Amino acid sequence: ASHTLIEKLEKTIENIPDFPIEGIQFKDITPIFLDPKLYEEVIEDLANFSRGKVDVVCGIESRGYLFGIAIAVALEVPFVLIRKKGKLPPPFVSEKYALEYGTAEIEMKTGQLKPGQRVLIHDDLLATGGTTEAAAKLVEKQGAIASQFSFLIGLKDLHGEKKLEQFNAEVYSILNY
Ligand code: PRP
Ligand code: MG
Repeated sequence: ASHTLIEKLEKTIENIPDFPIEGIQFKDITPIFLDPKLYEEVIEDLANFSRGKVDVVCGIESRGYLFGIAIAVALEVPFVLIRKKGKLPPPFVSEKYALEYGTAEIEMKTGQLKPGQRVLIHDDLLATGGTTEAAAKLVEKQGAIASQFSFLIGLKDLHGEKKLEQFNAEVYSILNY
């Protein structure tokens, strides 16, 4: 990303200390949506990373939808939703993953991804990487290829990228903390 885009985003994203728990700094991305020009620049930057390299975009509920659909439209490729547990009628595939306390599960409608398709998995934030790892497993369960991961923000200290190494995919975050 350009230096100016990074600077604008750093000024726009709000940092809330000790939320949701002490020691964690919450990144509030919603001020980006108050600035349509900045939003467009973000989409252009994320689309440039993936242009010509993927056949489908998958976005992870819910904040991964905020940019994911617009990336897919910019690339003129299909968008497929990855949903949280319990929202989808069958048939779907599901994948459990670990949270700090307990487990979570995400699901994807079958038949929308085709075997061999190159997939961009997009989310707003890479933290521990558990969510994105599970998303990539859903993609591969259907015979498609997790080719790229993109994020607005990557939190380096949580080593999320390590969990994604198994997929042999390109990883990009506009901002890294
Ligand atoms: C947040 C964030 C990512 C995920 C990253 O989503 O939007 O999806 O956590 O965490 P991880 O890398 O440690 O798995 P959250 O589950 O809070 O839900 P939301 O997107 O619906 O707000
Ligand atoms: Mg999320």
